[in-house]
Amino acid sequence: MTASPNNGVDPAPNPHATAEEVEAALKDTKLAQVLYHDWEAETYDEKWSISYDERCIEYARGRFDAVAGDAGDLPLPYGRALELGCGTGFFLLNLMQGGVAKTGSVTDLSPGMVKVALRNAENLGLEVDGRVADAERIPYDDNTFDLVVGHAVLHHIPDVEQSLREVLRVLKPGGRFVFAGEPSTVGNFYARWLGRITWEATTTVTKLPFLADWRRPQAELDESSRAAALEAVVDIHTFDPTDLENMAKSAGGTEVRAITEEFAAALLGWPVRTFEAAVPPEKLGWGWAKFAFGGFKTLSWVDDKVLKHVVPRNFFYNVMITGVKPGEN
Ligand SMILES: C[S@@+](CC[C@H](N)C(=O)[O-])C[C@H]1O[C@@H](n2cnc3c(N)ncnc32)[C@H](O)[C@@H]1O
Repeated sequence: MTASPNNGVDPAPNPHATAEEVEAALKDTKLAQVLYHDWEAETYDEKWSISYDERCIEYARGRFDAVAGDAGDLPLPYGRALELGCGTGFFLLNLMQGGVAKTGSVTDLSPGMVKVALRNAENLGLEVDGRVADAERIPYDDNTFDLVVGHAVLHHIPDVEQSLREVLRVLKPGGRFVFAGEPSTVGNFYARWLGRITWEATTTVTKLPFLADWRRPQAELDESSRAAALEAVVDIHTFDPTDLENMAKSAGGTEVRAITEEFAAALLGWPVRTFEAAVPPEKLGWGWAKFAFGGFKTLSWVDDKVLKHVVPRNFFYNVMITGVKPGEN
């Protein structure tokens, strides 16, 4: 597991939400987005094993190439790129390091996330500015960017088509958008069930006295349950790849294309991730990390080389989409 760079920077104010704040957020999805993601910002990189080295550069660039790589000669590196729902900057910062864009603007509804993304960019020496922004009303002029990207963000936005219209507005004519990491409807169904079963099994079995040191303190488990309650509010959509293509076309995009990835890899990945959240982190050593990462890589290879030719595309977990703003630059 790779920790985020944090050298010499003040931590954000205590990001933990009270039960009352959670109660208010349950009735307001955008408040829930800010609360949940501000809460997660300082620990997000560690939680999701996000790093800014070869491993994640290769992953981010791999997703970009998987969906946009067949589009002919891409003008790499793009001049100015925008990221929506940047979180800690995982996608754009790693794409920039991977030669996809020269300069970047990171945006997110959560101030805590923008703060961490800018800190990560500074630590990496990348030319990046940032704003707190709602993807449904992007605070930039028409025809500003050569590329707009996002990872795991569309499923949080109430009006996805409105957001795609905004993406096309701020793109220059001929500019491209690339979104990856969106849950498919079928994939989300099996991921939720696998997660639920793994959580119940782990938290039940670790009640046995001889497994007590595998049980996280009750306060931490309660906090995880509060986070899960909010997660259910912030995860608004799942996508059928064809429906998403139609939405991007109706927002004004051309050369629109969705692809999907991760079937066997997701069947392993969701129980593994849930198990990691349910037990004390110090119990899982290097051997576990090797198993989890190696298993995911191997099954991703099986998905790509074998299963994608025989399993319908909407069974795969991860939906990606690209398209272009009509016109010449
Ligand atoms: C699952 S996280 C993904 C973060 C990052 N892109 C990544 O892949 O690690 C989703 C991010 O979208 C942001 N978000 C949610 N709703 C948004 C909206 N309406 N406009 C902009 N960002 C939003 C959240 O604050 C959060 O940082």
